[in-house]
Amino acid sequence: MKEIIFFSLPGNDKLTDKLAVKMKAEIGNAVVRKFPDGESYIRILTDVKNKYAVLVCTLHEPDEKILPIYFLSRTLKTLGVKKVYLVAPYLAYMRQDKIFNPGEGVTSTYFGNLISEFVDGIVTIDPHLHRIKSLSEVYHIPNAVIHAANEISKWIKANVKNPVLIGPDAESKQWVLAVAKRAEAPFIVLKKIRHGDNNVEISIPEVVHFKNTTPVLVDDIISTAHTMMETIRHLKKAGMKPPVCIGIHAVFAGNAYKQLLDCEVDKVVTCNTIPHPSNAIDLSNVMANEIHKFISKLK
Ligand code: R5P
Repeated sequence: MKEIIFFSLPGNDKLTDKLAVKMKAEIGNAVVRKFPDGESYIRILTDVKNKYAVLVCTLHEPDEKILPIYFLSRTLKTLGVKKVYLVAPYLAYMRQDKIFNPGEGVTSTYFGNLISEFVDGIVTIDPHLHRIKSLSEVYHIPNAVIHAANEISKWIKANVKNPVLIGPDAESKQWVLAVAKRAEAPFIVLKKIRHGDNNVEISIPEVVHFKNTTPVLVDDIISTAHTMMETIRHLKKAGMKPPVCIGIHAVFAGNAYKQLLDCEVDKVVTCNTIPHPSNAIDLSNVMANEIHKFISKLK
């Protein structure tokens, strides 16, 4: 697509290059850096007039990223782009979808409203849709949600013998079900009670029927990894094999990745929505197709 120009925000170059090649699109040259005092500096060095700009920025640790995206979008519009779209493979704040304690705000809505003010459309991968049923409830701009289930199930079929898919909590059912169906594998969904950021309790699973299978834990986000680790503890107690852990989004807060690897897991595998050593499932093909459809529809 000739009239599309990609811009990579810092740290997103690998994915941006893949998408641009697959979509036969140009990559724009922009300087995105900090002044010595910590303020953001943006300069666009490519002609962007009458083009559709696609900004690629995954949004884990989002607070630092949002202002450069805002400045880039505003500058592009000043320079005459037709539209600015944001490709955010991981979308932050989606878990803050209700008031959990008095005095809090629903930051998923605030964040959605904020982004909707300065880009013309957003494309993301499996956002955490739980109490919020559709992205349009919080993003008031055209949006597209890409699903990783197909690629995950292909990976499982190619790499795991005799798998049983395990969802650690009710919220994971949507992903586990979609993957299990495509991978033609059985699945179980467990019950989780979260007592705090780092304290989760998982119900003891009915796993006796699955002792000779390879457990494959599937969740959308691995953040502190406590959900996975607590599940693994129960599987071990029930005498199951070391599991393969699959997360769509490799958030891995602090040393969560190391802690998870130390839990006698078979493997930890994620999709490339957030650059991380565990990335083994490439979503760039499905992304390129969906971004192409999304922009063509809006033209
Ligand atoms: C929450 O419901 C999500 O689907 C994940 O289970 C959760 O975000 C994982 O978080 P953590 O790795 O911190 O336990």
